Amino acid sequence: MAAVASLCLNMAAHDRYIAIATDHVSLIYRVGDNGRLYQSYLGPRLTHESDYAGLPGGIEAYLTHGMEDYFEPALHVEHPDGNHSTELKYVSHQVSAAADGSTCTAITLADDQYPTTVRLLLNAYAAQDVIVAHTEIVNADKRPVTLHKYASSLLSMNRSRYFLTEYSGDWASEVNMSESELQFGKKVLDTKLGSRASMFMPSFFQLSLDGHSSETQGDVLVGTLAWTGNYRFTFEVDQNGLLRLISGINPYFSAYQLKAGETFTTPDFIFTYSTQGRGQASRNLHSWARQYRLKNGSGDRMTLLNNWEATFFDFDEQKLVGLMDDAVRLGVDMFLLDDGWFGNKYPRSSDHQGLGDWQETASKLPHKVGYLCEQAAKKGIKFGIWIEPEMVNPKSELYEKHKDWVIHLPNRKEYYFRNQMVLDLSNPQVQDHVFGVVDRLMTAYPQIAFFKWDCNSPITNIFSPYLKDKQSHLYVDYVRGLYKVLERIRAKYPDLPMMLCSGGGGRIDYEALRYFTEFWPSDNTDPVERLYIQYGFSSVYPAKAQCAHVTTWNKEASIKFRVDVASMGKLGFDIKCSDLKDDEIKFCREAIGNYNRLKPVILDGDMYRLVSPYEGNHASTMMVSGGKDRAVVFAFDVNPRYREHLLPVKLQGLDSNRQYRVAEINRIGGWPLGCDGKTYSGEYLMTVGLPLFGTTRLTSHVLELVAM
Ligand code: DGJ
Repeated sequence: MAAVASLCLNMAAHDRYIAIATDHVSLIYRVGDNGRLYQSYLGPRLTHESDYAGLPGGIEAYLTHGMEDYFEPALHVEHPDGNHSTELKYVSHQVSAAADGSTCTAITLADDQYPTTVRLLLNAYAAQDVIVAHTEIVNADKRPVTLHKYASSLLSMNRSRYFLTEYSGDWASEVNMSESELQFGKKVLDTKLGSRASMFMPSFFQLSLDGHSSETQGDVLVGTLAWTGNYRFTFEVDQNGLLRLISGINPYFSAYQLKAGETFTTPDFIFTYSTQGRGQASRNLHSWARQYRLKNGSGDRMTLLNNWEATFFDFDEQKLVGLMDDAVRLGVDMFLLDDGWFGNKYPRSSDHQGLGDWQETASKLPHKVGYLCEQAAKKGIKFGIWIEPEMVNPKSELYEKHKDWVIHLPNRKEYYFRNQMVLDLSNPQVQDHVFGVVDRLMTAYPQIAFFKWDCNSPITNIFSPYLKDKQSHLYVDYVRGLYKVLERIRAKYPDLPMMLCSGGGGRIDYEALRYFTEFWPSDNTDPVERLYIQYGFSSVYPAKAQCAHVTTWNKEASIKFRVDVASMGKLGFDIKCSDLKDDEIKFCREAIGNYNRLKPVILDGDMYRLVSPYEGNHASTMMVSGGKDRAVVFAFDVNPRYREHLLPVKLQGLDSNRQYRVAEINRIGGWPLGCDGKTYSGEYLMTVGLPLFGTTRLTSHVLELVAM
């Protein structure tokens, strides 16, 4: 990170403090008499430096293996003489203004027995109350060292109770939220899946401190690791009730050798701390992501029609052009061609073959992708295309030619996940191949306006033909290889929007999202399930990044219900017009028009989760524009009960002193809500609320609020 101004400080080896601060949060380190670095405080902002001296001593800031602390270390280095211990002492620290506007504090620690240096880097984003932490481990020895553990961050907290929310699931059932209280000992959230790393759990959590938190109340820390591979969060409560939280790459089968002079840079651990509950924590991260991390975070997003659910592998040119007409009829911006367009020796007519052979199937697309681009252009829409470039079917020409590029165990029977295997991205030739998939398509068809990048398999058959005797580097070098490819794509095609997909939501993190404008949260597009899935991901990711498509899943739910749910994210369709009646198509067109008008509020506004689907029968979310002059409210009756006691929904985030005119939009038949066309003060809307819920199953309402 380039520094524009910096201040370098060397402290005397008696108690001194290093404070990292955002507008409302302080993280304070102390250099002890023994020269070691301790974390004394993490919590609401402390503004008086004179108070620091009263803070508790704290535990070591970056705990090392082999010393006197009995709990899980952040760092474990094996030195060339076989000694596994490291003792880190404060050397200096530097505070600088980073190029992105954040304030970077770099603390250098070193071992005085071994030439191992550690730099703790903490970037503070003041307005968003976000801190991004990572570590650089430098081997200044003339011989290699082995890193057995190399965390991005260690944070400690001394609170009365700790409640951890995790997000577990599987394909089509992502991010199910559950909360448990942490007790003495360890709770580990991790993955060992490699490429499809988040299939069972994405790399984020919420941690409520002192008691349970709600959307609007309580101290809560929300954290996430920006690493597109195996991660591990270790929550360890010690004998004194202190919680240590270690975040980083999962060290499982990942001992990493650092050559003489080499530096190991860990991924970012990104966290925010809110004293006003979970809603504020999420808004902090959403705003930070749009401003600093998500690719084209401040830019627009295209609505689209995808052919996957409409055709699966069964299509030809004519069908696709027909679907483009549907896209035009609905009024979306783009047609997205999904899986099944490639392979000739082994045409991709199912997921059993063809993956890796990125030439158009002549029988399906005799005039190739170029013709589809032309047709889309003629119809006034953009054209996007699906790829899964990191993978290969054993039944493919690529596999026949380049078995050496495939991660596989040389002496064992292969096993397959979705009939495919993973290419060895630690190998630079494979990186060239993967980059070439995008580059060749873009060179041949520069009109391609969008990529959907899929990744349907975890790393299986774990052995890299390229890494030879460094097999334990595979999980790390795979991800680094992927980043090299993505960096090349971003450099050559900086404005190309791309969707990150992994058999649904199997791979999502804030490092990948530097290169992707959006992600596919789940293959489950049942709108009821999506209420939960979108809610779960919204803990950390903004609506702008979450693709939400209208499909034929859950036919019990009206088209309005399905469109209303999808309109809370980046709206798309995966449906044929022939699945819809004329009035439904007309409704979709109007709803897309409303969505386009309201995109600045829905995608860039502040999100308030008003009623959680987990509470039972209803759900409601609203988005408010930065200036509080416009808002959109979504309300859903999911499973209401007979004679249920219905309460008004209290809105949030408005200006109490302004008057808002309410209009119900996205209507199809029936009567509007009583509030339609009326004007209320922000105070009334937030204190008394509006009766948005009813007793009819699968009913939904969307309100547009405009300040007068
Ligand atoms: C999994 C994705 O999640 C789907 O949307 C679709 O693209 C299929 N892969 C295609 O194989």
